Amino acid sequence: ETGCFTYDPGFTSTASCESKITYIDGDEGVLLHRGYAIEDLAEKCDFLEVAYLLMNGELPSQDEKAKFEHDITYHTMVHEQMAHFFRGFRRDAHPMAIMCGVVGAMSAFYHDSTDIEDPRQRMIASYRLIAKMPTIAAMAYKYSVGQPFMYPKNKLSYAQNFLQMTFGVPAEDYVDNPVLSEAMDKIFILHADHEQNASTSTVRLAGSSGANPFACIAAGIASLWGPSHGGANEAVLKMLAEIGDKKHIPEFVKRAKDKNDPFRLMGFGHRVYKNYDPRAKVMQATCREVLSELGIKDDPLLDIAMELEKIALEDEYFIEKKLYPNVDFYSGIILKAMGFPTSMFTVLFAVARTTGWVAQWKEMIEDPVQKIGRPRQLYTGHQARKFVPLNKR
Ligand code: SDX
Repeated sequence: ETGCFTYDPGFTSTASCESKITYIDGDEGVLLHRGYAIEDLAEKCDFLEVAYLLMNGELPSQDEKAKFEHDITYHTMVHEQMAHFFRGFRRDAHPMAIMCGVVGAMSAFYHDSTDIEDPRQRMIASYRLIAKMPTIAAMAYKYSVGQPFMYPKNKLSYAQNFLQMTFGVPAEDYVDNPVLSEAMDKIFILHADHEQNASTSTVRLAGSSGANPFACIAAGIASLWGPSHGGANEAVLKMLAEIGDKKHIPEFVKRAKDKNDPFRLMGFGHRVYKNYDPRAKVMQATCREVLSELGIKDDPLLDIAMELEKIALEDEYFIEKKLYPNVDFYSGIILKAMGFPTSMFTVLFAVARTTGWVAQWKEMIEDPVQKIGRPRQLYTGHQARKFVPLNKR
């Protein structure tokens, strides 16, 4: 009894949705995009190929891939006036705050692709978002370090272009390191989509009201920022630095098991996976490749991470609670080694996840029976009562 309604123990939230895009088997640690295993896609595709698959349901033919790459590439520049949005931020603003602001501001800019009833405008908005996110992300980084914005170069791949706009400078030609740009591309693939996670559900709910796609993606960015979600990769690095040495690991594992201690092992656990996150395995291998390419032999954070993973996977509490490393556990180590500040880690997650958000938004908008989202609640407040005037309170 809740005092006002008879509580129906069978009450279950119906906050779920149908989708053909991504399938997760949390118990088996399986992740499929349109039926293809994430391990295959990460090893055998590039990011735009996976983006095409998520958006259209099939892997592209060679001609389809070439056309999609061309169309995305030729949308990578942002309107020159958009650069002014950045000037309004403090230099020390968190890049995710800038991303929320600038991506939302695209609604105020690209008026010719905000009418969601027009299929052509929907497609243009989708392409603009996928194409311009790396450019805006790189601009957020450049603004934070006081360097000039770099323009995209059409001869570069999606990942190469992002690295060039982030780390290149006008004073000299940017030289691509194929190991790093391939690692970047793989990291984008591993973060592209993940069924109905918090930020994707946010995008779908915002989009279900008919809000324009730029505003919906800005809402997704805001949700992803949280440390329990996309902000975890930044939190993992902070945690590893706080542990500081392998000998302190048992103390932190003990804290993670203490219900009275708010400390959680960041990069561990998942709302769905009760097995190893398949993305984490690919990420760990990519981590080794990048560190080796950069000649980083003994990265203390990687040593702590590997030892922490070993101890946690053998610990009966973590085994009983089915807590395994997730996608965020190793990604931060790679990104730090590549030269990104921790404040940019979740920005990179947002760049990659924009493709999943756009694909999920498009699927929802094009569903002929979709209605505005309206999660219900279980009311546990007061029942109706008589008003008490102020002079009687
Ligand atoms: C992402 O949804 C997605 O798909 C997200 C994502 C994506 O691609 O979009 O995969 C990306 O967000 C990955 C998750 C990144 N977050 C972190 O790494 C933060 C650390 N992880 C925890 O905050 C936590 O694991 C959550 C938030 C991810 C999930 O928390 P839940 O829902 O509590 O997980 P659970 O129900 O499986 O927990 C089982 C038990 C609970 O204890 P009891 O209530 O049963 O006593 O394990 C505990 C939890 O308290 N637990 C942890 C823990 N995670 C869960 N204990 C210590 N350390 C942890 N990391």
